[in-house]
Amino acid sequence: MKRVVKSGLVLGAILGVIALLGLGSKAVSEINKGAATITIDVIKKTQAPVLFEHKKHQERAGDKCITCHHSEKEGEQPKACRECHNKEGAKVALKDAFHKSCKDCHKKENQAGKKAPEKCNECHKK
Ligand code: HEC
Ligand code: HEC
Ligand code: HEC
Ligand code: HEC
Repeated sequence: MKRVVKSGLVLGAILGVIALLGLGSKAVSEINKGAATITIDVIKKTQAPVLFEHKKHQERAGDKCITCHHSEKEGEQPKACRECHNKEGAKVALKDAFHKSCKDCHKKENQAGKKAPEKCNECHKK
């Protein structure tokens, strides 16, 4: 009798772990990767909108979303930058958040021989 209960518990535990694993991988595949290309025009006052190849950049970053989406842990659903940086009193204004993120990496990549845009009109294309 004891044995049966015990093996029932063990089986239950194994099934439980399998269910958890199943849910876990589902959660990962359910992360919304956002659009392949994004026209960034959140601020758009004096400059032309910026065409951003999101998917290409995800590939370049080896799918490490936190390279840019720094506020989430890897594996968490990233949020748009504007959700924090466009708020009243944000320490880093949205424009600076974009410029720093985009330009710092481009500068670094170009020092390593890449050809990422650094000039205004290479990003702000009329
Ligand atoms: C690597 C790409 C990149 C480069 C290079 C770049 N920017 Fe931007 N900039 C952006 C992005 C992305 C935004 C956000 C656009 C939006 O939301 O409208 C932005 C926003 C801005 C804004 C605020 C939005 C507006 O329309 O007023 C200004 C001003 C601006 N940039 C000026 C410049 C100037 C001047 C240069 C050159 C010295 C420059 N940028 C170079 C990517 C870039
Ligand atoms: C090179 C930088 C970069 C990388 C890497 C990157 N993203 Fe993004 N992502 C952005 C930018 C910039 C936006 C536009 C945000 C905005 O408009 O405020 C964005 C937007 C998004 C959005 C839309 C958010 C919304 O609500 O509008 C999702 C979802 C997203 N990214 C998911 C991901 C995931 C998942 C990964 C990793 C596989 C990833 N991103 C990798 C820069 C990046
Ligand atoms: C959940 C809120 C949140 C989101 C979403 C978010 N940020 Fe930030 N970001 C912050 C905070 C908070 C800081 C730090 C400001 C401080 O306290 O000094 C920061 C700082 C930064 C800085 C300055 C880092 C430095 O070294 O000076 C950059 C650049 C930046 N964010 C870019 C981005 C970009 C690009 C996105 C979207 C892809 C984004 N952030 C999304 C909250 C956020
Ligand atoms: C983690 C590094 C990194 C970040 C962050 C990053 N880029 Fe790039 N970007 C690159 C690299 C690498 C290239 C390609 C250079 C090459 O082909 O030699 C590139 C190329 C580009 C190009 C040329 C078209 C293309 O995609 O091939 C544009 C436009 C561009 N980036 C805009 C942006 C904007 C706007 C942001 C910020 C929202 C941004 N990038 C953030 C690394 C980055």
